Amino acid sequence: MSAIWTFALAFAFASLFVWQQDGVDLQLMDFRRTWLVPFTSFFEQGVEDVTGERSGIKSVDSYVSSEGPAAKAGLLANIGPSGSKASGAKAGVVIASPSTSNPNYLYTWVRDSSLVFKTIIDQFTSGADTSLRPLIDDFVTAEAKLQQTTNPSGSVSSGGLGEPKFNIDETAFTGDWGRPQRDGPALRATALISYANWLRANGNTTFVSNTLWQMIKLDLDYVASNWNQATFDLWEEVSSSSFFTTAVQHRALREGSALASALGQSASVTNYNTQADSVLCFLQSYWNSNSYITANTGGGRSGKDSNTILASIHTFDSAAGCDAATFQPCSDKALANLKVYVDSFRSIYSINKGIASNGAVAVGRYPEDVYMGGNPWYLSTFAVAEQLYDALIVWNKQKSIAVTSTSLAFFQQFSPSITAGTYSSSTSTFTTLISDIKSFADGFVALNAKYTPSGGGLAEQYDRNSGAATSAVDLTWSYASALTVFAARQGTSSPSWGASGLKVPSTCNTAGSGIPVTFNVNATTQLGENIYVTGSVDALKNWSPDNALLLSSAKYPVWSLTVNLPASTSVQYKFLRKFNGQVTWESDPNRQISVPASGSFTENDSWR
Ligand SMILES: *[C@@H]1O[C@H](CO)[C@@H](O)[C@H](O)[C@H]1NC(C)=O
Ligand SMILES: *[C@@H]1O[C@H](CO)[C@@H](O)[C@H](O)[C@H]1NC(C)=O
Ligand SMILES: *[C@@H]1O[C@H](CO)[C@@H](O)[C@H](O)[C@H]1NC(C)=O
Repeated sequence: MSAIWTFALAFAFASLFVWQQDGVDLQLMDFRRTWLVPFTSFFEQGVEDVTGERSGIKSVDSYVSSEGPAAKAGLLANIGPSGSKASGAKAGVVIASPSTSNPNYLYTWVRDSSLVFKTIIDQFTSGADTSLRPLIDDFVTAEAKLQQTTNPSGSVSSGGLGEPKFNIDETAFTGDWGRPQRDGPALRATALISYANWLRANGNTTFVSNTLWQMIKLDLDYVASNWNQATFDLWEEVSSSSFFTTAVQHRALREGSALASALGQSASVTNYNTQADSVLCFLQSYWNSNSYITANTGGGRSGKDSNTILASIHTFDSAAGCDAATFQPCSDKALANLKVYVDSFRSIYSINKGIASNGAVAVGRYPEDVYMGGNPWYLSTFAVAEQLYDALIVWNKQKSIAVTSTSLAFFQQFSPSITAGTYSSSTSTFTTLISDIKSFADGFVALNAKYTPSGGGLAEQYDRNSGAATSAVDLTWSYASALTVFAARQGTSSPSWGASGLKVPSTCNTAGSGIPVTFNVNATTQLGENIYVTGSVDALKNWSPDNALLLSSAKYPVWSLTVNLPASTSVQYKFLRKFNGQVTWESDPNRQISVPASGSFTENDSWR
């Protein structure tokens, strides 16, 4: 969840104000900290909390034992029809949060719901909680209904599966929004496939073939046809290609192909595998020469983003070892990326001041974030810990740790003199690294613990200056992220999805993926007014004012959108404004660009 599109302009102004306010607070905080709190290396000595107690490893254990049940109760309270905070939600519908204003999250997102139910399904199939089955069946029924609900992205057969959110009574949400978001169908397929695999193993192939496969096939056919089209990212702000989306699409296609094979659906096996090879190829292109993953192909930011950590944990497959092609949690690329991402928050949040340069810090979505003041997120901070716990699971299983030139900087945080090489479990280097990295991971949990209010409620964020919980209360995804990180800390991992032994094709087939073209238009708007683009090709919605694509106001007064257009073509387009249902086109003539044969293209216009 994120920028509220209808209030995009108000948000653009508010964020300027918040930045200034932060600047003031930051200085005050620095001043207070220098005389109140002695410099303490959290990593070596643990952090002192306000009561003067040490909150080191031990308190992480006690946090896990109290927060685990609290998170599960908080998560279940947000699922209809009987969740105590989900009144009005239909059976199996997950509300994102009960918060109804500033922000209003009383909707159901396909992404959040699918991640939440993947957690529930894993608890059910592992035998940890067999009482969850009726709820899972409710989820299946609810999502089957939403798939068939025509919405502003289209009908079930014309793009509607890319719709990000619905009303909690299972009707379409028809307001302006960053759509489509193409991670939703992939994540839903992954959740349903994990249930289908358990049912098959338990002799109930009938329900899989008659019900689940029908739904999974709709989602995966959508992914197979659209993975190379522009999408809004998981934070609903940037329309381009997005690492998280591509990674979860790849996973869903692979496990979908295995399920199709088990069900004798050979045409789907071929289709999904062919596309998955291309997606895996494309996935490699997000890695950049500064040794981290660029989260989005558009958006004009550093690209350091929790998106990439979340992708690694949600595509973890302990059978795949430390494979870098799928950015497994212990791969050299994913570890190098983790360090760059974490380091980008060391100096920007005042609650991180005074923490040693190799200690755990509170982290947010991305360093440039200004949403709600731009704060640490519980789910982002838990995700870093989870990636590290997942890595520990694999290193302990394979009884060695490989350090490469790519991951050297990550490992030097723990052992400054370490060199590239493979350290087996009989070496003291291995033992020390395992112990230090476990403490490092625990440090991220300890920070969330420190900023969890008594009672265990998890909001979306906590304030970068005070640490007070802020933004949406009882965020269902925050609770799910607590449950998955605690499971990983215990050494538990989800069933394999088939990441083992995958090879990146030597040439990438991204035919049809087009050229990323960024439209920038400098346009002053009034509160509630938004800027759109449409034009002469499918990707620009063929001159349809109704289906025109919404631009992002994140860089107001410059409105921006990246969309993939066919290479080597001449494309005509115009911007339009929508305000209170009224459409205003730009004056004639049509604008025109020549899309290049390769690379990318940025067009800079001013409203006319
Ligand atoms: C198969 O699973 C579905 C969904 O839980 C259930 O409704 C059905 O009764 C099951 N069938 C059998 C034969 O167990
Ligand atoms: C946008 O246009 C206004 C008015 O023409 C101009 O003053 C301003 O500098 C422009 N801003 C940017 C970022 O191009
Ligand atoms: C638009 O501006 C960007 C930098 O702001 C520049 O790289 C790009 O070349 C410009 N596009 C055109 C078509 O001039």
